[in-house]
This record gives sequence, structure tokens and C-alpha cells, in this order.
Amino acid sequence: MIKEKIIELKKKRNAVILAHNYCIGEVQDIADFAGDSLGLSKQAAQTDSDVIVFCGVHFMAETAKILSPQKTVLIPEASAGCPMADMITDAELIEFKAKYPDAVVVCYVNSSARVKALSDYCCTSGNAVELVARIPQDKQILFVPDRNLGSYVQEMTGRDIVLWPGYCPIHEVVTDKKISAAKQKHPRAKVLAHPECPEAARHLADELLSTAQMLDYIENSDADEFIIATESGIIHAIEKRSPGKKFYEASSDVCRNMKKTTLENVLQSLENMQHEVVVDLEVAKKARRSLDRMLEVLPVASEKKSN
Ligand code: 13P
Ligand code: SF4
Repeated sequence: MIKEKIIELKKKRNAVILAHNYCIGEVQDIADFAGDSLGLSKQAAQTDSDVIVFCGVHFMAETAKILSPQKTVLIPEASAGCPMADMITDAELIEFKAKYPDAVVVCYVNSSARVKALSDYCCTSGNAVELVARIPQDKQILFVPDRNLGSYVQEMTGRDIVLWPGYCPIHEVVTDKKISAAKQKHPRAKVLAHPECPEAARHLADELLSTAQMLDYIENSDADEFIIATESGIIHAIEKRSPGKKFYEASSDVCRNMKKTTLENVLQSLENMQHEVVVDLEVAKKARRSLDRMLEVLPVASEKKSN
């Protein structure tokens, strides 16, 4: 019943529903597109609907608003934030930049609009390595806020990168110990880890992939057993895309913020046009430059049309 109401209101409002791969299963299922941060940003930039209902966390909805300023962007659960994005403020970035005046700034998309506005480039986990590799070789790079994704990029590119000490609390506890234990239990399984995991855990992985890249990889792989080292919401999407294959979670930690969006608040969001995401115009204009550079790098690995 609630699903029918959402579909009806979606038509009436000319709205599109976008959901991140970590959202609860029924929200992913009602979405027009479910995907990773890069895929969702591309969808937000391309849609011709009047309204975007963003099921995910605040920085994602803010990114959608910057990429589609003429559209109304709604976040069904106003308190859904990202603790990692909150680990650097614009004032802290200004101080950091002042210490390295000749460096360029690369910010992970998990950051506020104000931080993006102060950055030269933005990236996602799906294109960080490729994006940094394109930056002129003589440039020192400040990478914010995720020290884990930043150190992965450093390893892959050999670039001079100064890391900000932020991290995702969910991926930080996907440790090498947990991965080793899972490998012992399931020696045939391939280990797929998210680059937000700490270095020692990353080194035990067969592949380091964004959430959408994991979905593609599993679907196209000859292997039929996988250890998944990321947030548990991804399991719903994997099971839908690759039924018959076996998955073992390295860690069962969940991102509480990603689970806050429910079918009930998606419906309320469409009914009451709440909660509208607003970004200061000057901030949006500056943040747009770094986001446009992000969208230029690499095609979307995968976006799954859910219905
Ligand atoms: P991706 O879906 O882009 O891999 O991002 C993971 C994440 O932690 C989003 O907050
Ligand atoms: Fe932020 Fe981590 Fe949750 Fe993603 S999984 S929204 S990075 S806290």
C-alpha cells in the first residue's frame, strides 16, 4: 500500500528517487536508481525530473542540489549525516591549505559543500586513483577527509599526498583480523574490500572496489564465493544482482545514518515536500567546479535500475 502511494505521488510531483547501496532493502527497491556515490551523482546531474528524493546521507543530497540547482532536492530523513564528512570543517581546511600553499586539494565526495568549494578536485571511491593520476606530476596533493582512501590512492599512484586524519567509523573497524578470520573459514572466497578500510585490511583484499564496482565484479566473476568487506547494506543489492552466489560479511557493522531512511519517511517527504536541501549559491558555484572535474573521470561502473 505504502509503495503504491509512493509511486503515485512520485508521478504527481514528477520526482525521481535515488538510493545509495547501503540503504535498507525496501528503500533500494522503491528507488528509480540505486548505486554508488559516483553513479548517483551522475543520475542527479542528468535527470529531467523536477524533484529528486535522495535516500542516503546529507552530503549526497547536497551534491545532487549542486549538480541540479534548478531542481528541488529532498532528503527524507533530515538527521541522516555522515560522521566522516563532519571530520573536516571549512575553517580547518583553510588552515590546512595555509600550511601547504602550493598544494592542490582533492576532497572525497563524503564532505560538505563548503569543503568542496575550497577544493580543486572532488573524487569518489570509484574514481579517486584515476582522478589523482591526472593531476600534474609536480603538484603536492592534500587529500581530505578520508585518510584510508587517501593512503590507498598514495599507494596506487606514488604521489606526494598529505592526508587529513578523517575516517569512516564503519569501515575503520573492518580490520585485518576480521578479514583473516573470514578467510580461514572460507579459503576459496575472493575478498572484496572498500578502499575506506584501513591499510592492513586492504592489503588482504583481492580487489578494492566502490559499492557499485563490487556489484559488477561479482556479477561478472567466475568465482562463486565472496568475502565482503564493507557496510552490510550492500548484501541486499548483491543478492538481487547475483542470486546463487555465496557471500560472507567480514564485519557486520552498519551505518546507522544510512538506515534512517524508511518507506514511511520517503512517503512523507513526497507528501509534504520535506526536507528541502538548500546550498548557498556562492558556495554551490565554487563546489560545482570540483564536482564537474569528478564527473569527467571514468564512466559509472554500475547503476542498477531497480524498478
Ligand atoms: P561508494 O558507494 O561510492 O563506494 O561509497 C561508500 C560510502 O561509504 C558512502 O558513504
Ligand atoms: Fe559516512 Fe561511513 Fe556511513 Fe558512508 S558508511 S555514510 S562514509 S559513516
